[in-house]
Amino acid sequence: MWARSVLGLVSLALVVQDSLAFKAHDFKTCSQSGFCRRGRALAKRSLETQSWQSPYSIDPSTISIVDGQAVFKAGVKSSLYPDINFGLEVRVQEDGAVRVRMDEVGGLHKRYDEAASWSLIADPKISQSIQWKAGKKDIRAVYGSKKDIGVVITYEPLQITLSRGGKDQVVLNGRGLLHMEHFRKKEEAPAVEATPTPEGGEEQVVVKADNPGAWFEGAEEDALWEETWGQWTDSKPKGPESLSIDISFPNHGVVYGIPQHATRLALPTTTGENAFFSDPYRLYNADVFEHLASSPVSLYGSIPLMHAHSEESTVAVFDLVASETWIDVSHSSDKSTETHWISESGILDLFILPGPDPDAVFAQYAKLTGTAPLPAAFGLGYHQCRWNYVSSEDVRTVQKRFDEENIPVDVLWLDIEYAVDHEYFMWNEKTFPDPVEMVNDVAATGRKMVVIVDPHLKRDSNYPAFTAAQDLKVLVKPKSGEGEYEGWCWPGSSSWVDFFNPAAWDWWKSVFKPYQLEGGSWSWTKSTEDVHIWNDMNEPSVFNGPEITMPKDNIHYGGWEHRDIHNINGMLYSNLTYQAVAARSDPPKRPFVLTRAFYAGSQRFGAMWTGDNMGTWEHMAVGIKMVLANSIGGFSFAGSDVGGFFGNPEPEMLVRWYQVGAMAPFFRAHAHIDTKRREPYLLASPYKDIVYGILRLRYSMLPVWYTAFRETTVTGRPILRPQYVVFPKDKNGFDIDDQYFIGSSGLLVKPVTEKDVTETTVYFSDDQVYYDYFTFATYNGKGSHVKVPAALHQLPLFIRGGSIVSTRERPRRASSLMKYDPFTLRVALSKDGEAKGDLYLDDGETYNHQKGEYVWREFVAAKKTRNSLRISSHDLGSLKPTEAVGDSSLTTYNPKNSYAKTLDEKDVRVEKILVLGLKGNPKSVKVEGTGEDLAFEFMPAMTRAASTLVIKDPRAKITDDWTVLIQY
Ligand code: NOJ
Repeated sequence: MWARSVLGLVSLALVVQDSLAFKAHDFKTCSQSGFCRRGRALAKRSLETQSWQSPYSIDPSTISIVDGQAVFKAGVKSSLYPDINFGLEVRVQEDGAVRVRMDEVGGLHKRYDEAASWSLIADPKISQSIQWKAGKKDIRAVYGSKKDIGVVITYEPLQITLSRGGKDQVVLNGRGLLHMEHFRKKEEAPAVEATPTPEGGEEQVVVKADNPGAWFEGAEEDALWEETWGQWTDSKPKGPESLSIDISFPNHGVVYGIPQHATRLALPTTTGENAFFSDPYRLYNADVFEHLASSPVSLYGSIPLMHAHSEESTVAVFDLVASETWIDVSHSSDKSTETHWISESGILDLFILPGPDPDAVFAQYAKLTGTAPLPAAFGLGYHQCRWNYVSSEDVRTVQKRFDEENIPVDVLWLDIEYAVDHEYFMWNEKTFPDPVEMVNDVAATGRKMVVIVDPHLKRDSNYPAFTAAQDLKVLVKPKSGEGEYEGWCWPGSSSWVDFFNPAAWDWWKSVFKPYQLEGGSWSWTKSTEDVHIWNDMNEPSVFNGPEITMPKDNIHYGGWEHRDIHNINGMLYSNLTYQAVAARSDPPKRPFVLTRAFYAGSQRFGAMWTGDNMGTWEHMAVGIKMVLANSIGGFSFAGSDVGGFFGNPEPEMLVRWYQVGAMAPFFRAHAHIDTKRREPYLLASPYKDIVYGILRLRYSMLPVWYTAFRETTVTGRPILRPQYVVFPKDKNGFDIDDQYFIGSSGLLVKPVTEKDVTETTVYFSDDQVYYDYFTFATYNGKGSHVKVPAALHQLPLFIRGGSIVSTRERPRRASSLMKYDPFTLRVALSKDGEAKGDLYLDDGETYNHQKGEYVWREFVAAKKTRNSLRISSHDLGSLKPTEAVGDSSLTTYNPKNSYAKTLDEKDVRVEKILVLGLKGNPKSVKVEGTGEDLAFEFMPAMTRAASTLVIKDPRAKITDDWTVLIQY
């Protein structure tokens, strides 16, 4: 009965969608997209033409060096269009990154040039120590602390090369595919003949009579002025303006990144002999229903950042363009990679990040787009979601069931059915008569709620969010530029707020205030500060739009077309929501916002998930790779729907999915409205007990996750680290993307994503001992794939020798109840008998950490003599202020801070130290200084299991410096 009354109209749309799987015909292939077709045809011609040469060149007489010595500027011409002017600017930044910008000068229209203002945190600082040396054929600069980086700008044809130690790292336009289609007037053309393509799209081809540039641009005009695809026609009012550029990595045989695609981390080829995919990777944020588990098709978000890697170095390119972009990848040898980027509009604004290793690239990228702020601590707990918990009573019952079973959960979620007619913020009073009381009941147990707010607003004159946006005139406009664009989404006929319009910002921030505003304007009074927000459908998803999104000729603030800003659109929405949720409390508290669509920089505004995955083993496996790709793209706070969004996973699959989810930064179970309920307490034994164990494991590891977050906040290094990031010189790890390290903790995990598995293999790269996290079995790898047990109850999780891992092992029902719990330290000794690790703590809620209110400890196990080991704790905050690349908030430390004082007063301590791999029987364990004896137990090493020393209650306060001395 509920389903009938609540779903109403929308159920029809659902049924239509649900009855079909991935609908390839909903999305364009490259051959169905005019500019991609043109770009690929250009690349094809270049291969077929002997002595191909780029028509673009620099006019040396126009060169100027400005801003001291760092910025090179010059005019660029294309031999095809001598009357058209382009401007090139190359600037070397303080950190050695090179920014290359090119735009048409004095053109008929303006190309979109505002992507940087949304994506970058600041204008990058320019180097003060650059000397450009101009020659006859090129101009060059040499820099870097070892003076080993060189940038060469060749005049004719235009080419830009970055080298290190004499070896080319990145070459722009080396293959002569650079092409910035200039704005032009539409000539009176012969009648257009529309030729249907085999896939049902339409190509519009005009044969140009006498075209001297045909060798480069092709003899025919192809979809320059208008493009029809299915029932949609894109009017392209400005005509052609696409941008093609080839980027080669001559000494790098593998590339990673450009999320989001369902594919391997090491990107398979898309062109050349035996190409793995036939289409380029596409970046065009899209709501792809039941997407494939292996495909270059674009998904919900886009980060145009690509790492190129070899045993010798890592470099990257960041192509700051917001329009639809296709990227071809090929290898001319196993040592080099060639890529070709084809974008629909916008200026060229490209950063070359010189590395030379993954960590340096992370820092260079973080300096540009920022790092993830520290999350609200509950965000790292377990999130229970489904479409939908249908009433406040339902929510209370779910919570009760968790409590009865004594299993932890931090957040209960509400999907779209809480909102009457899918008018977000407006509770369905029949099913949710008491929303504030419901939220308060959840909050009373130390938990939070997350409620969905989608970007489409139902066009209903009684819906205050819609009418306010309408009054403010901040809705996206149709191509005429007049009135409001109207499309179809969950509520039926809807409009979309244009968050590019500053007039929308203050209003949106006011809407989330859970109290009546002065002046009487509407805000979400039926909410509390314990409600956080889920932003979905923000690609944006438009059910009746081309490719399930907005028409490209829709108009945004500033007159820009939707095509210009499409990939940034979703980021703006989560950005504003994040600000709105922070602004509702005074002083502000850390918001939690989950977004589906994203772009470079979205890491600053909360978490993402990989969207609507299927309940299949393939999707489970590829979800890990997608989260890894996001992590190296700067967006670490990521996860995929546990259980799979579609389908009813069998218990074994669900257990494995919990193992995957618990080892991801964002850990949420979610399910489609048509699926059976599958909350963990509904499982039968033994599955249920295994899942409870996994949830407890996640909670015990929260200090590890939070500490890893601190690191990414400060350095930009990802939380999940694939093999090539940790061991950049080990070639055998370059293609491994089913195991990864968690932060700098030394924890290595290899979740199982196959059915009926009792063992698996793990690759141990280095000559180090690895300890099974649970059994303390030891493994010595050094470049080998080692078999490890992996039955359903066994998660392959290892501690790398040399690490100290801090956990909290008291079972609690929510993370907020663990604030003052004691710690356990696992000291996993290296083969040389030493170890270290760090632990970061703060209140997990406010911004006081930015004023130095935190505790950051380092634990070190070091040999004192041949037969004695000291384990000590010291304050890292005062000892080692870190240079922050993104968020500089954690660089100020107050050693006497009141947060630390509270931990001290509450007597928060280390309750247990486990020392793994001690080489000898301990004779005594004492507190150094006082000489006090400590109780301990010792289990000598057995075949394959490390010796284990358990020190109970080492009298060690977490905020104090202390040393424990072990004689053996
Ligand atoms: C699509 C989202 O991807 C999914 O997670 C959500 O449940 C539905 N929209 C309904 O809101």
